[in-house]
Amino acid sequence: MEKTIEQIHREALEEIESARDAEDVKSISIKYLGRKGAVTQFLRNVSNLPAQIRPEAGKKANETKKDLDALFKKTLMHLESSSRETDDRIDVSLPGRVTPRGSLHPITQINQKICDIFIRLGFDVAEGPEVETDYYNFEALNIPQNHPARDMQDTFYISNAIVLRTHTSPTQPRIMEKQRPPVRIVAPGKVYRCDSDLTHTPMFHQVEGLLVDRNISFGDLKGILTTFVHQMFDPETGLRFRPSYFPFTEPSAEVDIRCVICKGSGCRVCSNTGWLEVLGSGMVHPAVFENVGYDTTRYSGFAFGMGVERIAMLKYGIDDIRKYFENDLRFLRQF
Ligand code: FA5
Ligand code: MG
Repeated sequence: MEKTIEQIHREALEEIESARDAEDVKSISIKYLGRKGAVTQFLRNVSNLPAQIRPEAGKKANETKKDLDALFKKTLMHLESSSRETDDRIDVSLPGRVTPRGSLHPITQINQKICDIFIRLGFDVAEGPEVETDYYNFEALNIPQNHPARDMQDTFYISNAIVLRTHTSPTQPRIMEKQRPPVRIVAPGKVYRCDSDLTHTPMFHQVEGLLVDRNISFGDLKGILTTFVHQMFDPETGLRFRPSYFPFTEPSAEVDIRCVICKGSGCRVCSNTGWLEVLGSGMVHPAVFENVGYDTTRYSGFAFGMGVERIAMLKYGIDDIRKYFENDLRFLRQF
C-alpha cells in the first residue's frame, strides 16, 4: 500500500531531527524534494488518485513540500553558521608561533664598532663611491700611470679610466676638495682586489681615517691608533708599528696585532710570524695636499686604512677570512 502524504511528512521530520551536519541535511532534502524524491513522486501521482480525494491530497502534498523546503533551508543555515563559529574560536592555550629574528652580519657589527670608537674620539663619518675613477683611486694619491706602486693592488678595471676602488683612500682627496682644514673623518666601505686566500678576499671592507690640522705629528697618529686598538680589543693587546711604504704617505707604517689564533707562537693564519697586519697608515704626503690645494706650510695630517675582516678575525678568533662570506647560517648565528 502506498504511503500517505502525512506519513512521508512525519518521516522527513524525524530524519531532519537526527541530521548531524549540513551534508546530512542536503541528502535528506534530495531524498524528499529532489527530482525522484518522495514528495515529488507523490505530487506526480496525484492525478491517478480517485477523484473525490484528489483535491485534498494535492493541496496537502503542496503544503508539505513548502513546509519541508523552508525547514531544510533553516536547518542548513543554522548548521553552517555554528560550524563557522567553531572554526573561528581561538585556542589561547596554544603556544605562539615564533618569528625568526635576523641579526647584523658580524662584519657589519665590527664596522659599526670601529666607527663608534672614532666618533667618540671626535671623528665624523663620510662615504665615497665603490665604482671610482682612476684619478681618485690612483692619480690624486700620488700614484701616476705606470708607477710600479700600482702593482701593490691587483685592480679590477671597468674601463681605462674607471675601476672598482682598491682601497677607501680615494675618499681622502674627495673630502679634502670639499672641505678646508681642520678635517677629522672616518670613511667605511667595500673595496675590491683580485685576491683570495686565508686572509684575503676579492671584496672586503676598509675604514679610512683622515685627520688634518695644524701641527699634527706622527706621535698623534700613534696615539690615536694605539687608543683605537686598546678600545677595540683590550689594553693588553700587543701591537707594533712596522715601517712601510705608500705613495700617498711619508713616512708610512703598517700596524700588526698579535695573532690571537696562536697567541704569537706562529700558525698558518699569521704565516708563522706571530703577527697579523690590520692597517696601513702614515703622514699625508705633500703631493696629495697639493692636488687638493691645501697649503703644505700650514697644515699636516695623518691617514690610515684598516681591514675590517682582519679585525673581525682577531676579535672572534676566526682562522679563515672566507668563512665570513660563505653565508653558512650555523656560522653567522654565533655572533
Ligand atoms: C691600503 O689599502 C692603504 N690604502 C692603507 C692606507 C690608508 C695607508 C691611508 C696609508 C694611509 P693595504 O693594501 O695594506 O693598504 O690594505 C690595508 C688593510 O686592508 C690591510 O692591512 C689588511 O688588513 C686589509 N686587506 C688588504 N687586502 C685585503 C684582502 N684582499 N682581504 C681582506 N683584507 C685585506
Ligand atoms: Mg698592507
